[in-house]
Amino acid sequence: MSTADFKFRPLAEPDLPLLHAWLQRPHVAERWGPAEPVEELREDFLSGGTTRAFMALLDGEPVGFVQSYVVMGSGDGWWEDETDPGARGIDQFLAHAHQLGRGLGRAMVRAFVARLFSDQAVTVVQTDPSPDNPRAIRCYAAAGFKAVGEVVTPDGPALLMRCWRAASPQD
Ligand SMILES: CC(C)(COP(=O)(O)OP(=O)(O)OC[C@H]1O[C@@H](n2cnc3c(N)ncnc32)[C@H](O)[C@@H]1OP(=O)(O)O)[C@@H](O)C(=O)NCCC(=O)NCCS
Repeated sequence: MSTADFKFRPLAEPDLPLLHAWLQRPHVAERWGPAEPVEELREDFLSGGTTRAFMALLDGEPVGFVQSYVVMGSGDGWWEDETDPGARGIDQFLAHAHQLGRGLGRAMVRAFVARLFSDQAVTVVQTDPSPDNPRAIRCYAAAGFKAVGEVVTPDGPALLMRCWRAASPQD
């Protein structure tokens, strides 16, 4: 699996029912919590703000969801110590349970991180899996992220992992 196989299409109104259906799948809901209704997804992702949401396409087919956000100034108790305007955060999932644990996630994350670093203003990319999500932690480590330490977020404990521009692996 190569990062080159992945493309990212900005989330759009016609994607909301599919995203809502994906969020109800047990392997996603287990990590992302109860699925928000379509109206809230629209408000979260399509009404401005600094969060950018994308459908991840593999060979043109939607296989996952990724979002990026500006870490500094996230608000609501998130990342209050961040002072670097170039820091971005990402969250993601694969949509199809039968595709987990086959290396797809690391290829998707690498491709998305490379896309973020194509913006010279971006200095570092972080992600914050639950400490009890070893599959995600191993995936992010394989994609070039280093564990910085455990933190407490408004969603509970998390392992903060960061990928600096120079550490971003190439295919
Ligand atoms: C997290 C996610 C994107 C990772 O993608 P993926 O394709 O499953 O991950 P990869 O196959 O690239 O890597 C998984 C790694 O975890 C390992 N792994 C798989 N299942 C595991 C388990 N139950 N316990 C421990 N390790 C596990 C794999 O062996 C692999 O590690 P290795 O190659 O070093 O041996 C995907 O699993 C997913 O969407 N999960 C559901 C939602 C979720 O957890 N989202 C992330 C929230 S932070």
